[in-house]
Amino acid sequence: MGDRFYLPEHLHNAPPFLKILKEYRNVIPFPDHLMEHLKRPLPVYFRINTLKTSIDSAKKLLEKEGVEFLQTEVAEVVKVTRHDHSRPLLSYHLGYIYPQALSSCLPVLALEVNPECAVLDLCAAPGGKATFMAQKMSDEGFLVANDRTRGRITSLLANVKRLGITNTIVTQGRGEHLCLPCTFDRILVDAPCSGQGKYRIDPDSGTVKHEVIGKTNLPAIQKALIKRAFDILKPGGILVYSTCTLNIEENEEVIQFLLEKRRASLMPIDLPLQGQPGIISFRGKEYDEQIRLAKRFYPHEIDSVGFFIAKIVKGAPEKATP
Ligand SMILES: C[S@@+](CC[C@H](N)C(=O)[O-])C[C@H]1O[C@@H](n2cnc3c(N)ncnc32)[C@H](O)[C@@H]1O
Repeated sequence: MGDRFYLPEHLHNAPPFLKILKEYRNVIPFPDHLMEHLKRPLPVYFRINTLKTSIDSAKKLLEKEGVEFLQTEVAEVVKVTRHDHSRPLLSYHLGYIYPQALSSCLPVLALEVNPECAVLDLCAAPGGKATFMAQKMSDEGFLVANDRTRGRITSLLANVKRLGITNTIVTQGRGEHLCLPCTFDRILVDAPCSGQGKYRIDPDSGTVKHEVIGKTNLPAIQKALIKRAFDILKPGGILVYSTCTLNIEENEEVIQFLLEKRRASLMPIDLPLQGQPGIISFRGKEYDEQIRLAKRFYPHEIDSVGFFIAKIVKGAPEKATP
């Protein structure tokens, strides 16, 4: 097989993402399929908000509005196969749907929230996962949805309102310093990241679209966020750490950091989509064996945004609270 990650000369100084893919080709399954897959546009998915409607009623309204879709492995999520994007959808304005990548729903399923839980979403805006968690909690219990960025909080508040959610308190602050008068049964850290799982490759020029360059301190921020989240988790509570990037420094290395600093254990993740195990050996570095329990979802394997998910319990895994 030829080297599909050969970089043409005009790209030598440009996209770090392509260089990363080249470096990762031994750990990514079927890397040439990934390169081909990234030349296609990101598929659109709608999550149905069962706080306002039933799955069947939402599907009927979508059909009436001329949207064609397929059921996915996640009961609440459909994959849109045909839709006139220029037409506003009543389903959207009524709060029946939330456009959300299929893989973006997975961290919520991994967290296993329920109506009795006190839940924190440390980096919540614009609210895709927070509003799905509220849905999975039947709008009961309580959910704190925090984010650092004021502009994004506006979208978070609008989404909470549009989807008819009442169990959610929205706060603004840096997650690594968040100080609240309670601890939590479940915490999601959907960390700010380099977003490599969302990148696409221009089929004509071969250049990377949507690439974010210049954020170099992300692993430091991610480590501070996961440590703070763990410290305000109840004993036996569950923490899910997720990113939409493939970068090992932002994924496995952040989990390794937590395992070294705190008495944390990884738990197996049971999800309706198959992922690859976390990486425990790369570039001469060895990580904790438990990190295999984390999941990597690659765009070409799930036809959605690439994601990393780790599920962590405070204390021994058998002591996780229901
Ligand atoms: C991946 S996005 C979250 C997406 C969100 N969970 C969702 O599903 O819609 C990461 C978020 O982290 C926020 N953020 C960045 N640095 C932060 C910090 N230090 N503390 C809390 N939030 C932060 C960003 O404003 C951004 O909204």
